Amino acid sequence: MTSTEAVTLSVNGQQHSITVEPRTLLADALRGQLGSKGTHIGCEHGVCGACTVLVDGHPVRSCLTFAVQAEGSEIETVESLGEPDGGLNSLQRGFQRHHGLQCGFCTPGILMSLTQLFREDPSPDEERIRDQIQGHICRCTGYQQMVEAAVEESETNAKEGR
Ligand code: FES
Ligand code: FES
Repeated sequence: MTSTEAVTLSVNGQQHSITVEPRTLLADALRGQLGSKGTHIGCEHGVCGACTVLVDGHPVRSCLTFAVQAEGSEIETVESLGEPDGGLNSLQRGFQRHHGLQCGFCTPGILMSLTQLFREDPSPDEERIRDQIQGHICRCTGYQQMVEAAVEESETNAKEGR
């Protein structure tokens, strides 16, 4: 018989009580039980970064994290981004403007890593931006357009004194 455990996960500010097996991965709980389909699963080995979410503000591979480990933490997924009116936030709009996505598979993970970077440093230089996304594998764009979008975000923040 498979054992299960009750776990309460705080995702994007909302508490969810679910039942999982101890081996259930956070990525699978988010997608399969909580409907957070923006969290993508690529390699399931911690290599590609597609499944990256923020846990207590830190980028975490949700394919390497058990759901039970995340109890008591604040989890943020790509669905938490955007403006209160439902529109895209400025970084997301930048990705759109610069054609920073094609298939979009890697995009949620990269957006979450960049979100953490911009919280830490609102105007990072290009080297810092490239360093932040180096753990993400994109098979489509060659990264240049995403970097351009992030550099623009950085420059806008600097100009606006954020
Ligand atoms: S799916 Fe988690 S790192 Fe690739
Ligand atoms: S946009 Fe397709 S994998 Fe990155």
